[in-house]
Amino acid sequence: MATTTTQPPSNICFFLLLLLLAHFHLGISQLELNYYSKSCPKAEEIIKEQVTQLYNKHGNTAVSWVRNLFHDCVVKSCDASLLLATVSDVVSEQTSDRSFGMRNFKYVNTIKAAVEKECPFTVSCADIVALSARDAIALLGGPSIEMKTGRKDSKESYAMEVEDLIPNHNDSMSSVLSRFQAIGIDVEATVALLGAHSVGRVHCKNLVHRLYPTIDSTLDPAHAEYLRRRCPTPNPDPKAVLYSRNDLKTPMIIDNNYYKNILQHKGLLTVDEELATDPRTASYVQKMANDNEYFNQQFSRAIILLSETNPLTGDEGEIRKDCRYLNAN
Ligand code: HEM
Ligand SMILES: *[C@@H]1O[C@H](CO)[C@@H](O)[C@H](O)[C@H]1NC(C)=O
Repeated sequence: MATTTTQPPSNICFFLLLLLLAHFHLGISQLELNYYSKSCPKAEEIIKEQVTQLYNKHGNTAVSWVRNLFHDCVVKSCDASLLLATVSDVVSEQTSDRSFGMRNFKYVNTIKAAVEKECPFTVSCADIVALSARDAIALLGGPSIEMKTGRKDSKESYAMEVEDLIPNHNDSMSSVLSRFQAIGIDVEATVALLGAHSVGRVHCKNLVHRLYPTIDSTLDPAHAEYLRRRCPTPNPDPKAVLYSRNDLKTPMIIDNNYYKNILQHKGLLTVDEELATDPRTASYVQKMANDNEYFNQQFSRAIILLSETNPLTGDEGEIRKDCRYLNAN
């Protein structure tokens, strides 16, 4: 009796030891700086060159690369699942309501093609999502960020889970904070990430509920009048592409002007307004509004956290040839 009761724990210990040794032997795969230094030394340079050329032709591509990082990483992992197109049994995450307004996906293929030309089947689409966001942030006047690489691409799309994982424009701050918390992004980093709303646009569809039938009392009245001119009807024609820019002063620069705006109740989305007034986030908003250097530091830290969400590494996933399709398709 005595031996049978002591046996199982020691077996477990032995098994764990074996597992540990196996890990050391195989090497635990992790993201690292310059992961492609041997396999494709020019990878990061080529990506930066492409991102810069695209930015010079269509400035808003850079804005898209920043939003792409958020929508890719928050859904399971930074694994380029976002880039999969709808074909046969794959439903694209881009078809979700949450992806409304996302644009420029076709230019990701331009970047990938340039990388494939230099090093076929070597650089993942997930790393292209991450590095293009990093380079875009620098082009848009934000901080220069050191970013690790070595992500692999997913073998599936998670279209059905997008709405559960990406917050909606009118979610409560509690729900927003707990979603970010669940992937290891603390409150201060969450406040910093929302600073991405210092660039880009919001379509009337996401604004009219604050303007009609009555103006949301939390919105600055003069700004509400401006937004009513941008969005003249409560039911915007989805094809008319009516929108307002996020930041009227520096619309194409990632800076702390976003925080100044939301403190003046000129935030466009309900979550932007909530960020400025919620007791858990307000003091960080104030600090970021006062100090662009502090915002840059926190934004860098937060982008790194976001970009390292649950990556597929080593033998996991695959390296897609074309970011839109699984290799098997
Ligand atoms: C609570 C979290 C967030 C919510 C609810 C949210 C929601 C939205 C919505 C509704 C839009 C406008 C879409 C449209 O009408 O066209 C938008 C735009 C944008 N978001 Fe967020 N977002 C959040 C966090 C983030 C984060 C963390 C980032 C990046 C770090 C980000 C980057 C962007 C960018 C760059 C745009 C402008 C896109 C463009 O002009 O093409 N957002 N977001
Ligand atoms: C949030 O907005 C959506 C439309 O985008 C609407 O269907 C939903 O009822 C709103 N939720 C809240 C809590 O107001």
